[in-house]
Amino acid sequence: MIESGSIELDDLNAHLLTLEDYVVGHFNREEKFLSEGPCAEYLHHKHLHDQFRQEVKDLAVRCRAKDEEAVRALPGVVSTWIVQHIRKVDAKYESWVSLDHVDNRPLGMLLHKRAY
Ligand SMILES: [Fe+2]
Repeated sequence: MIESGSIELDDLNAHLLTLEDYVVGHFNREEKFLSEGPCAEYLHHKHLHDQFRQEVKDLAVRCRAKDEEAVRALPGVVSTWIVQHIRKVDAKYESWVSLDHVDNRPLGMLLHKRAY
């Protein structure tokens, strides 16, 4: 049972914030990289990211509303994404990605439209 003000809800919120930060930061970096590279599948790839972004957003809202079904579903959704997307779809680009391609600026700078 999830109770407001309990350690469990605080832990859940911490995990949700970490997941939301990861989704925003990781996808922004990856999409920037893919849009500038030779990836012909960029729009399809971005669409997959958009679907996952929305799924995480919806699940986070439900989890914060103490929807226990959503809380139970969250780990499976994340692990399925890791196995189906990161280990299969993203792995296709592994051979032509190097550290030179990684934009390691802080997330706030990546989200800012003006170039630094
Ligand atoms: Fe991806």
